[in-house]
Amino acid sequence: MMVFLVGKRRVLVNTSAKSVNTDFGRIDLAKIKKYGQAVKSSTGDSFVALKPSFVDLLKKAKRGPQVVTPKDAAQIVALTGAESGWNCLDAGGGSGFLSLFIANIVKPGTVTAYERTKESAEKIKSNAKLFGLGNIVVKNKDVLRGFSEKKLDLITLDMIGAEKMIKPCHRALKEGGWLAVYSPHIEQQLRCIKELDKLKMECATVENTRRFWKSKAGFTHPFHTQLAHTGFITVARKI
Ligand SMILES: C[S@@+](CC[C@H](N)C(=O)[O-])C[C@H]1O[C@@H](n2cnc3c(N)ncnc32)[C@H](O)[C@@H]1O
Repeated sequence: MMVFLVGKRRVLVNTSAKSVNTDFGRIDLAKIKKYGQAVKSSTGDSFVALKPSFVDLLKKAKRGPQVVTPKDAAQIVALTGAESGWNCLDAGGGSGFLSLFIANIVKPGTVTAYERTKESAEKIKSNAKLFGLGNIVVKNKDVLRGFSEKKLDLITLDMIGAEKMIKPCHRALKEGGWLAVYSPHIEQQLRCIKELDKLKMECATVENTRRFWKSKAGFTHPFHTQLAHTGFITVARKI
């Protein structure tokens, strides 16, 4: 089982390994039988074995091209109301970060991820395994050549040429279904909005900015350096 060992250091490990070395001693993993259990390292330091949360596991996930962060994936969920039982398509699967986030929300619904490179398609499969998400189907195909999925609740696009996908996505959505386009550059959003307008799909574009604050009594202020920009999201609904 995967455990998140929290003490003076934080480590995410699979207990199928015998032990793990930290700079606060070696921890014998065979001793860990359940979540919430306290363990001591060889130097006598205390750790607690927690059940890893979705965001803990993300730190262990394999990454390739720029991923959609949980902040933006959560925004897509907030704007579309994605919920358990939805069937979704994620085009431009990449490392699967967005697929994983959505699959975790919609299970037992499904996410079909289209990814044209074999290397990234394998990353999505291995990440889905790490998260124990059996509801992600990975198709190692160029989605611009066509896709067979129909009556979808949600389609997410994070790929070059997303604007060419708008028409086929409109056909593949069920009435009331949602389309969300993610891109780091506004130009791609504008190209997609032009296509959405042709189909008379109402849409809204958001930039989801977030600032972390240093919270210390008497010295509370935003951190001086922050990740200033990730991407834009346009959501549209088929009505
Ligand atoms: C920016 S990454 C997507 C990252 C992903 N959303 C995530 O959160 O991990 C874009 C991916 O789209 C894939 N891609 C681009 N065009 C594609 C196409 N026509 N069909 C399938 N995949 C495509 C690329 O190979 C690349 O892996």
